[in-house]
Amino acid sequence: MSRKPIFAANWKMNKGPSEAEDFVKSILSKIQNQPFSCDVVIAPAYIALPKAAEALNNHHGIAIAAQNCSQFDSGAYTGEVSVVMLRELLVHYVILGHSERRAIYGETDEVINAKLKKAREANLRPIFCIGETLQEREAGKLESVLRTQITEGLKGLSEKDMTETVVAYEPVWAIGTGVTATSEQAQEAHAFVRSVIADIYGPETAAKVRIQYGGSVKPNNAAELMACPDIDGALIGGASLDPQSFLDIIHNGTVEK
Ligand code: PGA
Repeated sequence: MSRKPIFAANWKMNKGPSEAEDFVKSILSKIQNQPFSCDVVIAPAYIALPKAAEALNNHHGIAIAAQNCSQFDSGAYTGEVSVVMLRELLVHYVILGHSERRAIYGETDEVINAKLKKAREANLRPIFCIGETLQEREAGKLESVLRTQITEGLKGLSEKDMTETVVAYEPVWAIGTGVTATSEQAQEAHAFVRSVIADIYGPETAAKVRIQYGGSVKPNNAAELMACPDIDGALIGGASLDPQSFLDIIHNGTVEK
């Protein structure tokens, strides 16, 4: 089963429109029209999406993601952005269930599930984040936490929705800390995530789903992590803010499975 690796830059609350434009221009000049052999996605803040799209100028090798979306269609939801609005901006992916959204904004599995469904209605591809805290891992709850997040988050999604979804396993203790999961820890968790997907959708579908690793991915650890059989790319925060570092991760980590 061949799965195309997918690398996504999660800029979080960094880079306004002009910095996003500079980043895109810099990447395009560095790659000089050479095609990527993997999928590449950048996720700017909402406000920088139009400038990023404009700077990409229909460059087919790089897709755009939003970092969030509303679970509602339209109406009295101050501060929210709908999936239809995102589609109008040529956004193709949306990051959902990130641990920062769960921890800081209180997003529950139920809310995340509603957002995943809304995203799929608009044909957006979710990057669905899951992961355990250090406390949960140390208490031996890794598998039960991941199983709950997966089962509740994906409730009601079809097989087609599942194959259009990218899962990002991001141990919370590795995000922004400089501490990366070892490749053994990451592979073990990824294999477990795939087995839970297989329990729900069957092994054939599970074998197609791309599972990214996230949490302190850097140019110097990308190759080792991405060589693991169940790791199909990365969701990158801090190290994606610099165009060269993002490109180095992509180049070092592109391993076809
Ligand atoms: P990090 O963030 O690469 O800075 O650890 C990853 C993420 O939160 O997606």
